[in-house]
Amino acid sequence: MEKPKYYITTPIYYPSAKFHVGHCYCTVVADTIARYKRLRGYDVFFMTGTDEHGQKIERKAKEANITPKEYVNDIVSDTKKLWEDLGITYDKYIRTTDKEHVECVQKIFEKLYNSGDIYKSEYEGLYCTPCESFWTETQLVDGKCPDCGREVELVKEESYFFRLSKYQDRLIKYFEENPEFLEPISRKNELINNFFKKGIEDLCVSRTGVKWAIEVPFDKKHTVYVWIDALSNYISGLGYLSENDLNMNKYWPADLHLVGKEIFRFHAMIWPALLMALNLPLPKKIYGHGWLVVDGNKISKSFGNYKDPRIYINATSRDALRYFLLHEITLGQDGNFSEELFLEKSNSDLSNDLGNLVSRVTAMVLKYNNGIVCKGNKKEEYDDELIALAKNTVIEVEKLMDDLKINDAITQIWKLIDKSNKYIDLSMPWILGKQGDKDRLNVVLYNLVECIRIIGILLRPYMVDVPDEIFRQIGVDLDITNWDDAKEFGLLKEGTKVIKGDNLFPRIDIKEEIKKMNENLDKKDDEEENEDTKGIITIDQLDKVELKVGQIKEVSKIEKSDKLYKLSVDVGEENLRTIVSGLVPFYKEEELLNKQVVVVTNLKPAKLRGVESNGMLLAAGDNDVVKLLTLDNNEGFLENGSNIH
Ligand code: ME8
Ligand code: MG
Repeated sequence: MEKPKYYITTPIYYPSAKFHVGHCYCTVVADTIARYKRLRGYDVFFMTGTDEHGQKIERKAKEANITPKEYVNDIVSDTKKLWEDLGITYDKYIRTTDKEHVECVQKIFEKLYNSGDIYKSEYEGLYCTPCESFWTETQLVDGKCPDCGREVELVKEESYFFRLSKYQDRLIKYFEENPEFLEPISRKNELINNFFKKGIEDLCVSRTGVKWAIEVPFDKKHTVYVWIDALSNYISGLGYLSENDLNMNKYWPADLHLVGKEIFRFHAMIWPALLMALNLPLPKKIYGHGWLVVDGNKISKSFGNYKDPRIYINATSRDALRYFLLHEITLGQDGNFSEELFLEKSNSDLSNDLGNLVSRVTAMVLKYNNGIVCKGNKKEEYDDELIALAKNTVIEVEKLMDDLKINDAITQIWKLIDKSNKYIDLSMPWILGKQGDKDRLNVVLYNLVECIRIIGILLRPYMVDVPDEIFRQIGVDLDITNWDDAKEFGLLKEGTKVIKGDNLFPRIDIKEEIKKMNENLDKKDDEEENEDTKGIITIDQLDKVELKVGQIKEVSKIEKSDKLYKLSVDVGEENLRTIVSGLVPFYKEEELLNKQVVVVTNLKPAKLRGVESNGMLLAAGDNDVVKLLTLDNNEGFLENGSNIH
């Protein structure tokens, strides 16, 4: 039988050197769902990527003195590395600079122009460049962009428009008939109240000022609006309108577009309308998740609360970070991120609850049975409770995961972990060991190892390395670690041999770790500061320049030069210094003689017209006027060689 398909996407990210833990959130959630669906037997296509066009990128590249493509290439390889570090199992990484994507967007634009859904007119509007969005006067907050609070620009130009208004009624009808299309419900209602109730206007879909963008194929003065470019990735990545459209036929419509709440609007309004205009079926679901916040503010690259996810991975592990993102944040709502909370959870839930369960059980099997798991006969009534919970947990997890209740699903797994830990306290294997009650001891240890096997399977969607490490420590045959093997209790074979491993999540000294994290953050800040303050030197750097009072004692012209004097200057040293200076056009020889001037005395010697110059006189001016900085005045005399500071 052919496998059912499942197509899931994250947004395509703007290339940024500052990928933060908030960016990781959406990708980790999507990866978890992809892993879960694969385990459930789906043929999954999971796509992520980067949104590489637009004025912002063009500006950044210019600042860095490189081409936009060079700028994004560097960032893309960093981003891919980060996803690898987090164990993200994407099937395709799409870049909007990919040739296939560019061609697809041009074909879409042309197709819609030919069908009349795109037409030419004139646009005048307010544009927020950082957000790449147009706003109407009423949408502004205090005259500024309602999303980011920055200034907007008035833009007027000849433009192409997409007939979005034409689809308003069809969209509303679709929302009503398909209550699962937009989730969570609160966001759908917000969208309808804030946008649809006011009436939807046609959308400007081309620009003339943005060069780093996809050209409108039949009118090269214009480039395609970045959101049309970006949204199309979900089908261009499947080969839509190309010769190789097998994936389009197989995977479209998408099962889930997972997006952040601030871009839900584009996905819930523009994207389905575009698809309707293209006569394509709509995705099954668009889900708008919340933000990771620090003290109530969205973690973002521009608001100064940037957190590098690698700091957290290095402090613990990628599975600890994934656990936190998946369990501590409720999908759909904002969630607070704090270092303390993250490390506390790592210690309590991961090191104590899960890690200790595995290390206690393997230690007992080693101590009482040389590491061999045996089935015993002496059962107690309370064993059945544990077994029933173990068998039921997978059913609960499936129900919750199918509803995208990821954190609740994890909570169910932890109930089984708790129950297993309590089962140890209740059965007291150490007493059984002392009493030599092998028959009972074997039952207890078998049940515990079997629960750990099931827990290992259940963790597979959420964690990358830990399930395999659990299986290794309990020595289980890998062919009973598939998803459905969690539904049966008792698959573990007699004679399975456990080994002693390290705690899955070593305990963390929270205070110490936070100190280290802050040091790392400070270092990062410093590096960035240097970037931002190019041209500024520190007092230490200034101190390196040695300035002294000098008196010009001899002056002569250098042969064959109409600019240079050779000067002998007393800077308080045993011998006079020879300094070559281009003062001929500005001073007569006698005007210079005996003047006290400012001399840089520690400059590397240089040869000018065959004469070695050992220092430099400070002077001000340009090509027409030059004035030597002198110390001559009526307020007393400074020793030659005095320091200037
Ligand atoms: O919007 N918490 O790209 P983007 C949770 N290129 N999620 C966060 C977050 C936080 N603190 N900060 C950012 C774009 N995100 C467009 C998308 S799709 C056709 C084009 C999420 O890099 C954000 O909500 O600004 C969004 O879903 C994703 O990161 C990419 O944001
Ligand atoms: Mg954004």
